[in-house]
Amino acid sequence: MRKKIIAGNWKMNQTPKQAKELCTLLKDKVNTKEADVVFCVPFVDLYPVLEALQGTDIAVGAENMYFAESGAYTGEISAAMLKEMGVKYVIIGHSERREYFGETDETVNQKVKKALESGLLPILCCGETLAQRETGITIEWVRIQIKCGLFGISAEDAKKVTIAYEPIWAIGTGKTATSAQAQEVCAAIRQVLTELYGKDVAEEMRIQYGGSVNGKNAAELFAMPDIDGGLVGGASLKEEFADIVHYNK
Ligand code: 13P
Repeated sequence: MRKKIIAGNWKMNQTPKQAKELCTLLKDKVNTKEADVVFCVPFVDLYPVLEALQGTDIAVGAENMYFAESGAYTGEISAAMLKEMGVKYVIIGHSERREYFGETDETVNQKVKKALESGLLPILCCGETLAQRETGITIEWVRIQIKCGLFGISAEDAKKVTIAYEPIWAIGTGKTATSAQAQEVCAAIRQVLTELYGKDVAEEMRIQYGGSVNGKNAAELFAMPDIDGGLVGGASLKEEFADIVHYNK
């Protein structure tokens, strides 16, 4: 049985002061051993959030990192910096980073490799645009993103990766994929993982759905056989996140 992983992606929200307040509001409500709960937060919020969540089972993640070890990369943050702080997870290749900041399957792959080498657990994002869905190439597209993102990653390391399937048309739009649509793509992702690593490893790896997950639709989505939790944007900034974490209550 795969343990569910429910992660909030705060995106570019919450000043450090607001971040502390949000942790105070949420931490007791979402602290559970039944699922892995993660707060992925802006770099400047990492310290206050790590401090605010001390003594809980909630893990902290970053929303991005750079793949070089160190050096002349003004404005970037390394995996070693995150690791030393006590960060556990890192989101890699979110569609917003691909769209607005020029991330490619190649840079995503380099980041996944560096994260694993540094002891961080990557949350590797994939997902199609509305135009791609309407063209009927969703599965092919996502298969390529997964194959490229995991290129050169061993089976042992792949087990540490969480895949987040986030259809771009469902992000921040209030238009959630139906549970059947989400399950179809997550099953296809598990199939490509099987081809890459064999059934045992693929069955161990966790696949999240993301895109307008809320307190009302989480239960149906997370009940799907290949959906192992969610990557949650907007609703992770509200008390509603607790309803998502406790979706089965
Ligand atoms: P929303 O939950 O706001 O649609 O965002 C999803 C997302 O992009 C999480 O990474």
